[in-house]
Amino acid sequence: MALLYLSSAERAAVWRPIFRDALPDVPFVEGEAAVADPASVRFIAAWTLPDGIIDRYPNLEMILSVGAGVDQFDFAALPEHVTVARMVTPSIGAMMRDYALLGVLAMHRQLPRYIAQQRSRVWEAGPVDLASRRRVGVLGLGQLGRATLHALLPLGFPLAGWSRTPRTVQGVETFHGPDGLQPFLARSDILVCLLPLTPETRNILDADLFAALPEGACLVHAGRGRQLDHDALLAALDSGRMGGVFLDVTEPEPLPAEHRLWSHPKVILTPHVATVTDFEEGAHCAVDCIRAQLNAQPVPGRVHRSKGY
Ligand code: NAP
Ligand code: GLV
Repeated sequence: MALLYLSSAERAAVWRPIFRDALPDVPFVEGEAAVADPASVRFIAAWTLPDGIIDRYPNLEMILSVGAGVDQFDFAALPEHVTVARMVTPSIGAMMRDYALLGVLAMHRQLPRYIAQQRSRVWEAGPVDLASRRRVGVLGLGQLGRATLHALLPLGFPLAGWSRTPRTVQGVETFHGPDGLQPFLARSDILVCLLPLTPETRNILDADLFAALPEGACLVHAGRGRQLDHDALLAALDSGRMGGVFLDVTEPEPLPAEHRLWSHPKVILTPHVATVTDFEEGAHCAVDCIRAQLNAQPVPGRVHRSKGY
């Protein structure tokens, strides 16, 4: 029985001793070239999977994403009995909370405008408003959406959240499903997207969605690039329908050098850095997943393959 590890050497240096101590019966095998017996590989930890890998390991039972997302895996190519799990760790929520807070405050206090003005040596004050008059809506009420809402709550923004199934979050007005989307959007002056990428959420941030937001609304997007129609966003920014965007994810990453989002005055762009899975926490999360699988217990961070997240 072995774990086949297919990620960076830096992460391996942290994971290796943790696995040796916590799971001495599960050898930590780094890279496919080091696999002595393919039949021994029961677990794979990776961000992306090399082509054809599933066929090479007949006793594979679990794939562990070394990040929070799993949209990089082709579920259709994975046999039904293979469990897919992802990283659910406190620091991922904490980092996203910080990032989303930064984005919401940047939009609330018109940071793109003042960065552009500073570059042009323009001293011109825009309107300043209270947080209590800026309604924030968070798409996605999972580990990241909830961490973000909990952090926003004491700041006084009227808060709402949208999920697939009904959810309750204290101090937050919640909406769900396709029927809940329009009323949720209509009351969101700053929209934060923390949705997983699935067939239902692909391109969800499109012209129709921008049209359903209040005039001049802003977007903080740290979900996935393929959820955003970049052309529709640029058109909405140019027309004034959208007031600004704080963007961590694009498709492709990075954008081509000539792409207008790089230099648009209403855009703040970061290079997919909202969260980085802490290596040590990730190793412990992976150990917990493998232990649970071996003991036939519920696997933390298990992905519901039919839902795609
Ligand atoms: P999660 O715990 O699985 O939560 C996902 C949330 O989205 C749930 O509330 C779910 O609704 C909702 N949802 C899914 N599909 C929906 C749909 N069709 N309509 C309405 N709501 C829907 O995920 P998470 O850990 O919070 O992570 C979310 C995503 O953030 C990841 O998948 C990844 O793409 C992204 N991410 C980005 C970064 C970055 O650095 N930029 C880092 C980590 C993660 P239910 O509650 O009803 O299930
Ligand atoms: C990063 O985007 C992750 O999914 O961990």
